[in-house]
Amino acid sequence: MNFQNKKVLITGGSRGIGKATALAFAQKGAQIGINFKTNKEEAQKTLDNLPGEGHYLFQKDISEKENCEQLIEEFIGIYGQLDVLVNNAGISIFHEVDKVNLDEWSSAWETTFKTNLFAAANLTFCAAKAMMQTGGGRIVNVSSRGAFRGEPTKPAYGASKAALNAMSQSLAKKLAPHKIYLGVVAPGFTETEMAAVTLTPTERENLLRESPFKRMAQPEEVAHAILFLASEGAEYSSGTIIDVNGASYLRN
Ligand SMILES: NC(=O)c1ccc[n+]([C@@H]2O[C@H](COP(=O)([O-])OP(=O)(O)OC[C@H]3O[C@@H](n4cnc5c(N)ncnc54)[C@H](OP(=O)(O)O)[C@@H]3O)[C@@H](O)[C@H]2O)c1
Repeated sequence: MNFQNKKVLITGGSRGIGKATALAFAQKGAQIGINFKTNKEEAQKTLDNLPGEGHYLFQKDISEKENCEQLIEEFIGIYGQLDVLVNNAGISIFHEVDKVNLDEWSSAWETTFKTNLFAAANLTFCAAKAMMQTGGGRIVNVSSRGAFRGEPTKPAYGASKAALNAMSQSLAKKLAPHKIYLGVVAPGFTETEMAAVTLTPTERENLLRESPFKRMAQPEEVAHAILFLASEGAEYSSGTIIDVNGASYLRN
């Protein structure tokens, strides 16, 4: 896979899967825009470790629509074009139906959807408009195994990722004539901060028992699938959802 001089924007690129994806693209010649929300120190470290030149940080809370528009405008202002958008930023909040009150419940749904779905929808809209003017592009959305398997303790998370899948597939159809290709990567538990925060020791043990590989995914393994979907030659895979879950959950 070759991304020489491709301009790539990765949301949530400061840590975890986004960080590994930024590194993988940069190693193959791309210039990377790393979006993040608050953790400037981590974002700077990620930026400093990228090989090559022309990488920049974009600090924006993408759960706000205006910030999505500004992010794409600023990116185009610097690079002149957007070749690949990776909608990776995501959050997961516990809100168990038998443990929270209605305010907590509805707040978890709103917050989750603003980051996991609406941000991706707004950024995809703005990116697609820009890509239409430059002859096309690629968008990869990071979903989750939870969209298929269910998320009993974080139902809004599972629902937001299922909606992200549906949005991606609808837009893969709509945008194909514009040479804009959309793919989805659906990881299972991956060794990142998100997994560390959301897994109790018992859950981790159960999870490893469920996994034929007896381990979690590494962020680099998820990045590999993201790069494939963004690569030249993967056009006809538009609309695909790639599972990266070590055969722990097999769907039809
Ligand atoms: N880890 C897993 O087990 C797993 C499994 C399946 C799917 N996924 C999905 O993979 C993606 C990446 O997960 P991860 O584990 O790498 O996450 P992570 O380590 O928790 O990192 C999250 C990243 O998203 C950024 N972010 C969060 N909210 C944002 C916002 N409103 N605006 C801009 N950036 C924001 C964070 O920025 P700051 O650093 O500034 O906070 C950070 O860079 C997510 O979509 C997640 O749902 C993860």
